[in-house]
Amino acid sequence: MCGIVGYIGYRESQPILIEGLKKLEYRGYDSAGIAVQTEQGLEVTKTVGRLANLESRLSGDPLRGTVGIGHTRWATHGKPSDVNSHPHTDNSLKFSVVHNGIIENYLELKEELVQAGHRFLSETDTEVISHLISVEYDGDIVKAVQRAVKKMRGAFALGVLTEYEPDRLVAVRYASPLIIGVGDGEKYIASDIPAILEHTRDIYILNDGEMAVLTRDAVELLTIEGNFISKEIFHVDWDLMTAEKAGFDHFMLKEIHEQPKAYRDTMLGRISDDGRSVELSELKMTAEQLKGINRVHIVACGTALHAGLVGKNVIESLVRVPVETDVASEYRYRSPIITPDTLVIVVSQSGETADTLAALREAQRCGARVLAITNVVGSSVAREADDVIITLAGPEIAVASTKAYSSQLIAFFLFGLYWAQTVGTRDEAAVAQVLAAMQSLPEQVEKLLAQAEVIKEVAESISHHSSLFFIGRGVDYAVAMEGSLKLKEISYIHSEAYAAGELKHGTLALIEEGTPVIALLTQEDLYEKMLSNIKETKARGAHVLGIVNEGQEQEVAKSVDRQFAIPRTLPLLTPALSVIPLQLLSYYASLALGHDVDKPRNLAKSVTVE
Ligand code: AGP
Repeated sequence: MCGIVGYIGYRESQPILIEGLKKLEYRGYDSAGIAVQTEQGLEVTKTVGRLANLESRLSGDPLRGTVGIGHTRWATHGKPSDVNSHPHTDNSLKFSVVHNGIIENYLELKEELVQAGHRFLSETDTEVISHLISVEYDGDIVKAVQRAVKKMRGAFALGVLTEYEPDRLVAVRYASPLIIGVGDGEKYIASDIPAILEHTRDIYILNDGEMAVLTRDAVELLTIEGNFISKEIFHVDWDLMTAEKAGFDHFMLKEIHEQPKAYRDTMLGRISDDGRSVELSELKMTAEQLKGINRVHIVACGTALHAGLVGKNVIESLVRVPVETDVASEYRYRSPIITPDTLVIVVSQSGETADTLAALREAQRCGARVLAITNVVGSSVAREADDVIITLAGPEIAVASTKAYSSQLIAFFLFGLYWAQTVGTRDEAAVAQVLAAMQSLPEQVEKLLAQAEVIKEVAESISHHSSLFFIGRGVDYAVAMEGSLKLKEISYIHSEAYAAGELKHGTLALIEEGTPVIALLTQEDLYEKMLSNIKETKARGAHVLGIVNEGQEQEVAKSVDRQFAIPRTLPLLTPALSVIPLQLLSYYASLALGHDVDKPRNLAKSVTVE
């Protein structure tokens, strides 16, 4: 997704903007540009492709000046091209805008502007904004932006400069994240914290409908209606190093290896000292309210939804309350049946996913209480939900989510147990048994990671295939779906996840000599059934890798071609272990195929458009 950086201070802005944009590269982009207040006026350089292209264009002709805005674009309106890249200007070239999000009524606005004589160069919705601001300008850029914004519908985070007021930078947030960084004699805007963390840890998080006017010495905060507001500074306490590769070849590999820490951190302070109960003091909902919940909707996108599928299993088995899972982009358009006793759980690593946020708002509009499981403190989802469980996975940079997913599983285990102990569906001894097993998970993951080479070999062999299958039953099916998504998104190998018993109802037709099948067999009560389903694929020529529990290897040996054992844990908790070899499998397959592991084609880290 697009990235925004802006700077006003006493240093040259160009290097600060470029370095900031590099920190946002993980969000995915296809073009980049900057606008700087130079001695000649407002100047723009932009280009399609990677930031390296922009840097090489600027190397011969740098933009000198201490105020500027920068952008990485992920195409929505109009293909990736120089002219569609941001920043966009008006016809007088006196106003320049960077924008994240979508202006839904841009065609309407554009038509009016064209009739009034404006000429447009790009196919973007953003160019309309710079023209609108120029029309509204009568000597005060803040008022002009406010008037322009009132005419716009959609989602936007904006950075605006005008040559007429070279010592001001205006920022607006409406349904697309934006933060303001505060330094001494220097101020920043950014769509995400890592972009400016090198320069300041003190930030303001703008809410929807808020704007900021930055000068070198001050930040004025106001609503888009023009009312002044005050806010607490949010002090970022995590380190930039945590957001860098720390010796690993890729962020994804680093993040896979950070899972033991992510598990420990997510459990920290949430298990009583005697290990017999869960303490979720961050929840505002009372025991009475929890007791009154009779149905759950889990709503999320992609990998977060797959964590929700495991969550469904956890809640249904521990609490015996029915749980539905839903794709967030579908949820609000299907008139979900939300009763006063429904709890809606939204799951989102970034906390900024547009579809998930829209689902959250729809659930609240219908009167549901919303619990968010998210990795980002201060994110939109975290701020708007009624209750929040923060996963402490640390910043996740690779587009492919790994440690965020598995920390979401830990959050579901904790919440399921907390709920079960509150309503009494599990007694103290049963809760203590699960908690003890959970506390062994970090060490068990370390053990699995030490065997990465075995998975690397399998990955290299499957990388020659154009299609494969992941199968499982029960909670293994949920993990199979995550394994399949991970493989698709970074290796571009087509794969499908199937409930093992469902294969024979059609998909079995696709199995032929040598088709790789990854079969998860961690659920002992479903073990015999799984073996039969594996046999069905083998009879058609499949080459099967079994993901099994330690101690089962001998029994399974006759039914599979290869196997990989995960350490013993409770059946409910196996997803926190069985997903590890699947993450490694996709990582090494992508590597073997020479793809850009951390920034797969067509994808973005944070999907802030619907
Ligand atoms: C994960 O590997 C994917 N890149 C993607 O499915 C992601 O999980 C999804 O876009 C949801 O993101 P969120 O957790 O930030 O809401």
